[in-house]
Amino acid sequence: MADNIHPIFDTILSTSEKEELLNQKSIVIWMVGLSGSGKSTIARGLENKLHKEGFLTSLLDGDNLRTGLNNNLGFSEEDRTENIRRAAEASKLLAANGVITICSLISPTESIREMAKTILGDKYCEVFINCPIEECEKRDVKGLYAKARKGEIKNFTGIDSPFEAPQKPNITLYTAEYSVEDNLDQLLEYILPKIKPS
Ligand code: PPS
Repeated sequence: MADNIHPIFDTILSTSEKEELLNQKSIVIWMVGLSGSGKSTIARGLENKLHKEGFLTSLLDGDNLRTGLNNNLGFSEEDRTENIRRAAEASKLLAANGVITICSLISPTESIREMAKTILGDKYCEVFINCPIEECEKRDVKGLYAKARKGEIKNFTGIDSPFEAPQKPNITLYTAEYSVEDNLDQLLEYILPKIKPS
């Protein structure tokens, strides 16, 4: 951090006042999983359902962030760490303004997720989108696994870059075993009590 910085902490409205205005409680729903595991599908489905229930949400997706805020970052360990740090800081700002924030990023290691958790504190809610790599590779929606196998993409998660399964996620969804709708039902059942005003 630079020297001579003087942040202002006295905001006009507190987070709880903003939450009251929006009639919701903010949270950061952090989706973790391999490429092709179904993170973006579940994230978009969740956002859709929450909108229909009248909640204000924002979706931060890894691919999308990498076209703007994070467009100078690649897939080295260092760049992934910075990618997650920025996504967590952006989510923190959104959550502080009462917005229910959904993040969909691979977030491949325990230490990276620990950093996001530290930034977000009790707003952090980890959702493990669990899908065996064999299934992700079979789906290969974007053709990236095929490229990685041919050596055309380096540092591909699960191939030549690590993916550590979350040890203590708040909730795990098994996308190879259950349908998108079933997983969304399960997720909503878990999330709704946390975001409805008391
Ligand atoms: S990370 O690890 O959290 O920083 O990754 P993330 O920001 O979520 O970006 C993942 C998306 O980038 C594309 N892509 C790659 N993924 C993994 N490894 C390598 N080397 C790579 N190169 C490009 C890919 O589209 C990922 O999107 P998803 O939605 O996960 O498939």
